[in-house]
Order: sequence, then structure tokens, then C-alpha cells
Amino acid sequence: MKRLLALTATAFILLPLSPALAHDGTPGAPGAGDPYFPGQGNGGYDAGHYDLSLDYDPSSGRLTGVTKITARATQALSRFNLDLVSTLSVRSVTVDGRPAVFAQSGNELVVTPARSLGSGRDFSVVVRYDGRPVHVVDPDGSLDGWIKTSDGVYNVNEPQGAMTWYPGNHHMTDKATHRFTVTVPSSRVAVANGDLVAKWSKGGHTTSVWDSREPMASYLATVTIGKFEFADARIGGYRVTTAVDPKLAGDAKGFPERHPPVLDYFSSIFGPYPFSSTGGIIDHAPEVGYALETQTRPVYPRVPSESLLAHELAHQWFGDSVTPTLWRDIWLNEGFATYSEWLWLDKLGTRTVQVAFDAAYATPAEDEFWQSPPADPGGPENLFHDPVYDRGAMTLHVLRLEVGDPAFFAILRAWASDYKYGNADTAAFVALSERVSGKQLDALFEAWLFKPGKPTV
Ligand code: ARG
Ligand code: ZN
Repeated sequence: MKRLLALTATAFILLPLSPALAHDGTPGAPGAGDPYFPGQGNGGYDAGHYDLSLDYDPSSGRLTGVTKITARATQALSRFNLDLVSTLSVRSVTVDGRPAVFAQSGNELVVTPARSLGSGRDFSVVVRYDGRPVHVVDPDGSLDGWIKTSDGVYNVNEPQGAMTWYPGNHHMTDKATHRFTVTVPSSRVAVANGDLVAKWSKGGHTTSVWDSREPMASYLATVTIGKFEFADARIGGYRVTTAVDPKLAGDAKGFPERHPPVLDYFSSIFGPYPFSSTGGIIDHAPEVGYALETQTRPVYPRVPSESLLAHELAHQWFGDSVTPTLWRDIWLNEGFATYSEWLWLDKLGTRTVQVAFDAAYATPAEDEFWQSPPADPGGPENLFHDPVYDRGAMTLHVLRLEVGDPAFFAILRAWASDYKYGNADTAAFVALSERVSGKQLDALFEAWLFKPGKPTV
């Protein structure tokens, strides 16, 4: 922090600022205020759009990037931060086309524009950078970010991987549209979020352009690269874009066609599918081991089972379109996606929701499992532990039994539509459930979401 202050002081000496301008505005906060990841996100501005140009060489692992961010100042701003690991080297930063002073420290890129930005002002930032991205290891020990594979990159970013490959305001409360222009050797395929809008090859390299027109939290971004069998087709009313690792192509037969039935069923209960395209990326990656609901197009480390496919597709409504406000509220993603698995397996005739609930509820009262309430996992190391998923899903089932099917499904639809493309927290869900059902539900949510111990049913 000291180093940053020193640099800022230098900036004021070097740049031809009048004293009035220099004092016009204050630095934006270096974090968004999330207790689980205090440095994540930044204050003082709101990002609206990211335009990324990435050139990646899988054999050397070298990335050259240009990120253009369009943003609006939410305070008079003398200086602001972007989240980016310091192992990537920033070569230049401009603000509204003018060179800006910058410094890298930890996971922060600190930018001091030549002139303060007035509150409410729209501005653009262009960051040129390069280096060899490396993933991070999360508090729970899992790999996250730009994860190198034998032929490319497995790129999943929940909760904090985005800073390993592009600069941005990487807390989920600042959603923005994205465009990715990715160049890789023509032997590889790069797949990102949204719609493939252009593709060309030149000199042994292929560039693809991906337009993600609905707002996206950056933990849901992906640029996954590898040797893939690629398909992009209209199936059952959806644009389904898939990439499959040739090692898994046999088992993945029919993968594109598996999407419309699940999406049709979820649309019938949650409301319309919120994005312009769908699909998935299957990239053999046992060292990562987990799938992620990357927006429009989840990434899977293996061919997904029906329940995993349903889980990641349900997240498109719950997590991607409606996103939590704080990491602590992660059950709003995982509990809902798990419950959606139960709904899909019930619809398929494989297992009823009640049987799934009963199996989970049979966990003995003295088991560890019951000690952690889903709405308060207790720290970032527990973000993805079982109670968030299973007790979260059980909470929804208990709510359903309490309010009845018509009110319960009306609650899910209202949740998806009232907060479409936005953020919402647990308190908002409790309030909405009470409003739609007309019932007082404090005791139910208190027992299931907030209190340690096995609730009675
Ligand atoms: N949201 C993912 C899922 O449930 C899990 C992500 C786990 N992330 C992690 N860093 N362990 O599908
Ligand atoms: Zn999930």
C-alpha cells in the first residue's frame, strides 16, 4: 500500500495537473467489500462492457492481451483499481485515450488517470498486458482460473480466477457485457461465452469472436482452449454451441441434442431461458475435477451425467442471470441448482424429489453435515461444501411443502424474473417467498438456512 501511495505522489509531480484537478475526486476503494474475498472487485466505478483481445500460444503458455473496459464513475475519482495478478505484466494503460500512470501490487492494478473523472462520467480504459497466466488455488484447495492442460486451457473462474487472465472489476455485483476476440494456432479451438459472431484463419492462426450480450459476472466468463470437436447448430429452437475433447467424443455422442429437453423443461417452470445461446465444453481434466456453469456454455471435466447437465443448465437461471450479492449467499446458486437436479430426475422418472429429499434428510443428526447452515458457510474454504448444495436444496423442498406447489413455483418464476441479469441476496429471497405465498416464513428459514443442527420436519 505504501508503494502505491508513493507512486501516486509521483504521478502528481510528473503530470501537469493543476492543484484544483488533483484534489478533485478521491481514490476508488480497492475492494467491493465482500468479507470472503476483501480485495475482489473495486469501488468508484461500474463496468459496462469488456472488449478482450487475447492471443494465446499453448506451447509456450504465453498470453498477449488487450482489454478495453467501458465504465461509469460512481464517485469523483482520482484513481481506481482493476483486479489482475501481478505475474502478468501490464505494458500500458490509457484512460479515454490518454496515457495513465499505473502500478501493480498483489492482485491489484492501480490506475491514476491524467485527470480526475467526475462522478457519473462515462470513461474507457485500455490495458495492454502479457505473460504466462497461472491459475490460483482457492481457500478450499481447488484450482481456479487459467488452468493449463496438455493441449490448451481449462478456464473456470469461480470464485476468483478471472484476475489470472484479464483486468477487471471482478466482484459479481459488477456485471457487464463481454466480447472476446481470441487468436490461437489453427490446430486448436477457442470457445468463449455467448454467440460466435466471426471466425477467420490467417498464417496458421485462427481468430474467433464471441459476443456475450447479456450482462455477466466475470467469475462466469470462460475462454477455454484445446483440441476440440466443435459444433454450432440450431437445435429445437436453441443455438447450441459445443466443443468436445476428442478423447471423450465417443461417450459424448448426442451431447448437443441433450440440451433442448432440459432447457424446455426448466423454461416451463422457471420462465424463459435467459440467454441467446447455449451448449457446453467437455474438456478431459481430471486434475480440475469440477464443472462450472460458465455463462451460456458450462465447462465439464468429463461427459456430464443427466444430473450434472441439469445442475449446470439450471445455474443459467440461478447464478448466472440471478446472481448473489455476496459469496456468503452461494446457496442461492448451489441449493437451487441441486434442487433443479432433483426436479429433472423426477421429470425423467428416475427418482422423485421426495425420495431425493428423504435420502439427504436421513443423514444422522450427529453428522458434521448438519452443523453448517447453508446461508452462512462460515468462510471461503466452505463455499462449495455439501450443506450449501444439499441442505440448500432441502430448504427449497421444505418451503415447497409449506406453501404448496402453485406458490412455490410462482416464487421460483418471480425470483428469475424480478432479478433477471441482476443480483439478490438471501434476505430478498425470504421477502419474496413471504410476499408471493402470503405466509410468515421466518421460522422455516431460520431453522433451515441460519441455525446449526438438524431441523425437524
Ligand atoms: N459452481 C460449480 C458447480 O457447482 C462449482 C464450482 C466450484 N469451484 C471451486 N473453485 N471449487 O457446478
Ligand atoms: Zn453448482
